[in-house]
Amino acid sequence: MTTVVPRSDFARDILHVYAIITWATVGIALVVGITLAWVLIRFRDRPGAQLPVQTRGHTALEIAWTIAPALVLLVIAVPTIQVIFRTQAAPGPGALEITVLGRQWWWEFRYPTLDVVTANELHVPAGRPVALRLDGPDVIHSFWVPQLGGKRDVVPGRLNRLAFTAETPGEYRGQCAEFCGTSHANMGMRVIVDAPDAFERWVAAQRAAPGEPSGLAAEGKAIFTRSACVGCHTVRGVSTGALGPDLTTFGSRRTLAAGMLPNTVEAVTAWLKNPPALKPGAKMPPLGLTEAQARAVAAYLMSLK
Ligand code: CUA
Repeated sequence: MTTVVPRSDFARDILHVYAIITWATVGIALVVGITLAWVLIRFRDRPGAQLPVQTRGHTALEIAWTIAPALVLLVIAVPTIQVIFRTQAAPGPGALEITVLGRQWWWEFRYPTLDVVTANELHVPAGRPVALRLDGPDVIHSFWVPQLGGKRDVVPGRLNRLAFTAETPGEYRGQCAEFCGTSHANMGMRVIVDAPDAFERWVAAQRAAPGEPSGLAAEGKAIFTRSACVGCHTVRGVSTGALGPDLTTFGSRRTLAAGMLPNTVEAVTAWLKNPPALKPGAKMPPLGLTEAQARAVAAYLMSLK
């Protein structure tokens, strides 16, 4: 994660302010440092040295050191205020609306106009503005994807907005940036910026009903549907739980547990047996599955693409 390689209009604006402030600070530090060094050497104590000229009250100097900091503040304030207004502005027409819900300790992404719900991996099209509506059901989180935009708090009951246009297809890591409990540090996310046609394909895949599994995955589905899983998780056409991540296309995700683990059968099996052992505080309890049962459910979940 880096803030100095921007990949959106928003991140570019922030880097612009950051660069102005950094270079202004470097300039001031150089002037102060060099002046101080010169004074220390020029007026150092030497055998027989006279006391330098003492100045008390100097109108020109006092005016100068009042105006100089005011100018520095002006140089910082003008671009900062411009960028604050620009990054708070409403997104342009044609923006893609996405609702972002911060939850302990994962992210839910809903695309109300596309009828898609996913978790922890946010897909957005390159070159099209996205308008995020940030909200959440539990505590305060903060949405932060350094290469795409500044942090914005996710406050339950208060709708915050964040709009940006991603420029370059790729995968960008993000992280919850507001302490939100035990697994705050494990509340990562990925934003996958797709070329427009790849985004269309992703949407189509998300909306397709999952196919009927066979073999081990079919066994896993049977276990899934008679276990507590269905109380918390939605799989389109199978279950409608709403407490945990929507699993309709679970197998298409790259990571598990908000970016903590690679999404592999091994990791999913271990997760199903004891989530809090892998992710401290995880709200999903151990389900009491045997190794074979967990492996079957993992096979089922990985088949959902
Ligand atoms: Cu969510 Cu920190």
